[in-house]
Amino acid sequence: GVKIVTIGGGSSYTPELMEGFIKRYEELPIREIWLVDIEEGQEKLNIVGEMAQRMWDASPYDVKVHLTLDRREALKDADFVTTQFRVGLLDARVKDERVPLSYGMAGQETNGAGGIFKALRTIPVILNIVEDMKELCPNAWLINFTNPSGMVTDAIIRYGGWEKVIGLCNVPVMAMMTESKLIEKDPKELIYSFAGLNHFHWHRVQDLAGNDVTGQIIDKMYDEENGMPANIHGVPFFKEQLKQMNLIPCGYHRYYYRSEEMLNHMLEEYNDPNVGTRAQQVKQTEAELFELYKDPTLSEKPEQLAKRGGAYYSDAACETIASIYANKNTPIVVSTKNDGAVPDLDPEDVVEVTAYIGAAGARPIAFGSLEPAQKGWLQLMKNMELCVEEAAVTGDYGILLQAFIINPLIPSGETAIHVLHELLLAHKNHLPQF
Ligand code: NAD
Ligand code: G6P
Ligand code: MN
Ligand code: MN
Repeated sequence: GVKIVTIGGGSSYTPELMEGFIKRYEELPIREIWLVDIEEGQEKLNIVGEMAQRMWDASPYDVKVHLTLDRREALKDADFVTTQFRVGLLDARVKDERVPLSYGMAGQETNGAGGIFKALRTIPVILNIVEDMKELCPNAWLINFTNPSGMVTDAIIRYGGWEKVIGLCNVPVMAMMTESKLIEKDPKELIYSFAGLNHFHWHRVQDLAGNDVTGQIIDKMYDEENGMPANIHGVPFFKEQLKQMNLIPCGYHRYYYRSEEMLNHMLEEYNDPNVGTRAQQVKQTEAELFELYKDPTLSEKPEQLAKRGGAYYSDAACETIASIYANKNTPIVVSTKNDGAVPDLDPEDVVEVTAYIGAAGARPIAFGSLEPAQKGWLQLMKNMELCVEEAAVTGDYGILLQAFIINPLIPSGETAIHVLHELLLAHKNHLPQF
């Protein structure tokens, strides 16, 4: 049987993961699941951990869910390690969002100054996890969901020297589900090709005869509600831009393609004491979810979890694990080493692309070069990520400053320096490298 270890087990997403494993048990015979958390997260771990065990007890399968604060005990002989942790919990995210907004800049979980600081807090922790894995489960696969998922996955390979890693995101899953509906097709009747970076990818779509249907989907996006992830405000893209590129951007591109409107929306919510930033809204949803999880009669994932941006996360995570385990070679959108799939970036760079997932990991499908308008963004954003990763590993202030200056959501100048210094101070306890 398979041993699964989930780091950040106290996450409200854990029932989503359990549901995905239960659904796939026949092809992925799990023996035990270890949910790992830290002292700060112990209460959440206990509540959601008992909920997870009830879900298995209500299923036909005999799986034991272990709860522990001892990561090393859990990692021993693991087959798959999944990560869904948040260094500093939601309070840290509140700071990532509020500090830049208080200076009139975008404040977002994975973008701009906040996204950079989430990477700075997370990368040292994930590299420690990798060191433990080298010792305790050298053959395991690491399935990373922890944000910023692309940078974290890149750092695992580049600085951790750990190649058996796959980075995941639910955004492509949601796009494939909603777009096939828009043109009244089954997702199986369409071929999706994704390329770019995590939270910064584009895709095109073909039918099974090889006809490009991207333009048809773009047209439909403008006459119907375009199923937005719950966490992103729905400012429409400029249609002429999308038609020009004949590619569909991801929801997060709004921060770059409609910066002005997105910033205004974020500032409006930030300034409205009844709304607040996304992190403050999520705190509320999380509290509601944990109230539900406490109910000893609840043994199914509650509907309210769909209020979180990461809905359908398990479709990516559990399908990836099942595909590796059973060598299924399923096409899945993952963060993995480019290896030539996007010739505009280095073969060593981690990109988010459609890839065949099997026993040997991810084999990215060639996408080809991008046109100048997309290529310019892509190269800028990847190199911004590389500066952030280097800063996270070395604690070098100069390279962090470079990341701030390059980042398109941070106007360069004195205000950027204030934001930088305030965030360094606010997150001091989680930034031992600085
Ligand atoms: P959360 O705030 O509930 O944190 C999850 C758990 O991580 C908490 O119980 C916390 O105590 C624990 N934790 C913190 N530091 C830890 C450490 N060093 N070791 C072990 N556990 C630790 O977070 P959440 O909202 O459930 O999100 C979890 C993570 O998943 C975040 O990084 C989030 O950005 C990410 N996420 C990714 C996607 C995606 O598409 N890839 C989607 C949704 C969420
Ligand atoms: C998604 C993204 C995640 C992100 C989440 C935020 O859909 O793929 O990477 O963490 O939304 O959702 P939240 O509910 O925490 O704002
Ligand atoms: Mn994501
Ligand atoms: Mn909103």
